[in-house]
Amino acid sequence: MLEDQNLTAVSGAREQIKSITLENIANIAKDAFSNKEIIPLWFGEGDVTTPDFIGQAICDALKAGHTFYSHQNGIPEFRQTLATYLSGLNEKPVGMERITVTSGGMPAIMLAVQLTTGEGDNIVIIDPVWPNITGIVQMVGAETRSVRMDLDDRGWTLDMEKVAAACDNRTRAIFFASPGNPTGAILPVAVQKQLLALGREKGIWIISDEVYCRMSFTQPMVPSFLDISEPEDRVLIVNSLSKSWSMTGSRLGWLVHPPSLEDTLAMMVQYTTSGTTTYLQYGGIAAIRDGEDFVKYMTEYCRTGMEIACDALEEIPRVILHRRPTAAMYAFFEIDGMTDSKQACMDILASSKVGLAPGYFFGRGSEKFLRLCYCRAPEQLTVAMERLKAALS
Ligand SMILES: Cc1ncc(COP(=O)(O)O)c(C=O)c1O
Repeated sequence: MLEDQNLTAVSGAREQIKSITLENIANIAKDAFSNKEIIPLWFGEGDVTTPDFIGQAICDALKAGHTFYSHQNGIPEFRQTLATYLSGLNEKPVGMERITVTSGGMPAIMLAVQLTTGEGDNIVIIDPVWPNITGIVQMVGAETRSVRMDLDDRGWTLDMEKVAAACDNRTRAIFFASPGNPTGAILPVAVQKQLLALGREKGIWIISDEVYCRMSFTQPMVPSFLDISEPEDRVLIVNSLSKSWSMTGSRLGWLVHPPSLEDTLAMMVQYTTSGTTTYLQYGGIAAIRDGEDFVKYMTEYCRTGMEIACDALEEIPRVILHRRPTAAMYAFFEIDGMTDSKQACMDILASSKVGLAPGYFFGRGSEKFLRLCYCRAPEQLTVAMERLKAALS
């Protein structure tokens, strides 16, 4: 009987996950057009390859024989490099016992959800949001509760009363990304402090996704939860080398957690990935230790992309951009009169061969939006924007 119930739960979760991936517009389009024709602005990935100094460090580590199992929390040298980096970047020191290396930001989110949340619990998710968090919560059999940010002349803002109202005694965590994907919105310190106070009062975990924290066009450093929390607070911080170090394919990230959870996380890693690829972690050391110029380059690359994309979008009368993004890789905009973002993406793809992501991916209330990733070479982005102008005028 117990076995039967488990099987039902597993297949139920798989069904839901299937429905997210099956509707992926890129998959639908793959069959219709050759990849060469399409300018792909739909994924959260740029066109810059991993810099040579990181690639070299990975190759050197491989050749030097770093091919054995890693410690579950990550190799000590990489954890220490990350601890030193975070201690320099933020206001409070971070010890390496608080860092678990993961195979990308995504597994860090998975660990955070598995650590805090079980079947029948719920997680409050601040949206518009990158949809994978929703899939993860479904996979552990928990419920997602969405609190949508408000959009006005000031950009995207979070109403803390709505967040508090969404929490109940089965709420285990509040998840948000700052800067956000797809909005680029940055949560001000005052709001972060309110979230932390709410979490402390109700015993709710804060899962802060800071994957885009080095990609701000207006401030050198985006406020981190590391600045306002204490080590033993119920705070988990997700980060990744995918974006600012152009390492999406390497799958390298980390989770910052309370020091008391070091062994628990080691065990959880043991039973999932059994550790992150050892020689890749040496690439991570090089990236973090020697990558500051490259991080700045990537931010400037995205700023240029943002300006090209937004200059063009602002020239299209039907496009409502609301506000230019101040961080991350995305423009999130509406088209006057458009209500079905999936159909709009298909139409735009057919007429202009530019791939955009439909707004409904990013939560209820975003059906009228489209997302464009501007982390692309200026020449190609300019062509894409010319095509979009023609398609939407
Ligand atoms: C907000 C956010 N968090 C996490 C991730 C996952 O990053 P990674 O590629 O390292 O798994 C992404 C990727 O697009 C993202 O946009």
